[in-house]
Amino acid sequence: MDRLVIEGGVALRGEARVSGSKNAALPILIATLLTDEDCILDNVPARLRDIRLTCRLLEALGKRVEAAGTRVVVRSDKPLKTRAPYDLVKQMRASVLVAGPLLARFGWVRVPIPGGCAIGMRPIDIHLKGFADLGARRTLDQGDIILDSPLRPGSVRFKFPSVGATENLMLAAAALPGLTVIRNAAREPEIEDLAAFLDSMGARVSGAGTPVVKVRGSQRLKGARHRVMADRIEAGTLMLAAAATGGDLMVSGVRPAHVRALTLKMRRAGAVVKESAAGLRVSMRGRPRPVSVATAPYPGFPTDLQAPWMAWMCLARGRSRVLENVFEKRFLHAAELARMGARIALLGRRAEIEGVERLSGAPVMASDLRGGAALLVAALAARGRTELARVYHVDRGYERVESKLRGVGARVRRVGR
Ligand code: UD1
Repeated sequence: MDRLVIEGGVALRGEARVSGSKNAALPILIATLLTDEDCILDNVPARLRDIRLTCRLLEALGKRVEAAGTRVVVRSDKPLKTRAPYDLVKQMRASVLVAGPLLARFGWVRVPIPGGCAIGMRPIDIHLKGFADLGARRTLDQGDIILDSPLRPGSVRFKFPSVGATENLMLAAAALPGLTVIRNAAREPEIEDLAAFLDSMGARVSGAGTPVVKVRGSQRLKGARHRVMADRIEAGTLMLAAAATGGDLMVSGVRPAHVRALTLKMRRAGAVVKESAAGLRVSMRGRPRPVSVATAPYPGFPTDLQAPWMAWMCLARGRSRVLENVFEKRFLHAAELARMGARIALLGRRAEIEGVERLSGAPVMASDLRGGAALLVAALAARGRTELARVYHVDRGYERVESKLRGVGARVRRVGR
């Protein structure tokens, strides 16, 4: 198993270009199940494990997938299956998104219930309630959910703006002739990217990016081409790494509006963040002021940047707090940060961070994707050497992270076991 060896204390400088968004690419790849024509997707972070798993899932369902660089072509040359294999679903929770398109098209689908994961239970009740509101019946067999009876367009209201449930229902609605309205929908930019793709396939989607999404679907959706949006979470992680190392970094390719919640907090903490059409330039000198954050659905402070933010606040000149409102146990990184000298107290969904003057390198272990990113940010800023184990967690969401960081001055290398 790979580890990253990081010699900390080098300020990041130069320009880093962000990759295509994993979280946008996943539902868009799955949307290709809505058509029997070919689809061409560009700017796909195709090396990421979750993207490779999604391609395998599409193949298991009957698609043919060709990936070259950041282009993925999804072809159809045989009938689709409506049963998703457990060995793939258990490895990636987003697989549950195949339920929407397959159920809407074929009136029957069988999908294993994805288990919990390190950051929480992650139930799918909101997805299921949405399908039930559109007429689905469900039964449970051997840990699989079977949904049947033809869906009809209609009206759905979520109790919480779940990103995955919004996507799943949009994917279903796109295949249903007539109007489906989703209320209290998630507003994340990835939802807008999915809407744009569904639009180019021939569905009519309005309101994506607002709490009310309307989808006018069609039984015959076309193949389409799409360029996946830039990864705002990767961008945010690079911004924090730049600030934590006292660097001056251009993070290019990302839409500044997509990371505004972070930008505003970073400015309050003392970083200089300049927005432009090309991306964001971040520079920072010295230790940050302590600034507290509370995570919330978009446009609030993203839960996916909570851990990297905490890593930076470990160096603040005083005490700050983090309140995690989206996932119930997303503080696994705190104990590992403590190994590097951080002073963090946890109480349920709250963390209190007493800033220290410096962190010091140590052998640490990634516990989950963004927790691993936090350790990386801390390691880049720390004095001395850090060995980051279980880097496969980080590889789920950051493409070639070590070469991107090396390109902006960091001393990072990957070693095998
Ligand atoms: C997506 C992102 C993930 C991000 C999260 C929140 C992808 C592939 N992943 O995950 O990186 O951290 O949004 O921004 O896009 N919930 C329920 N019942 C449900 C669905 C969700 O209780 O049916 C809960 C979850 O357990 C969690 C919260 O709602 O506590 C948010 O989940 P959701 O918005 O659905 O996140 P994902 O789509 O899983």
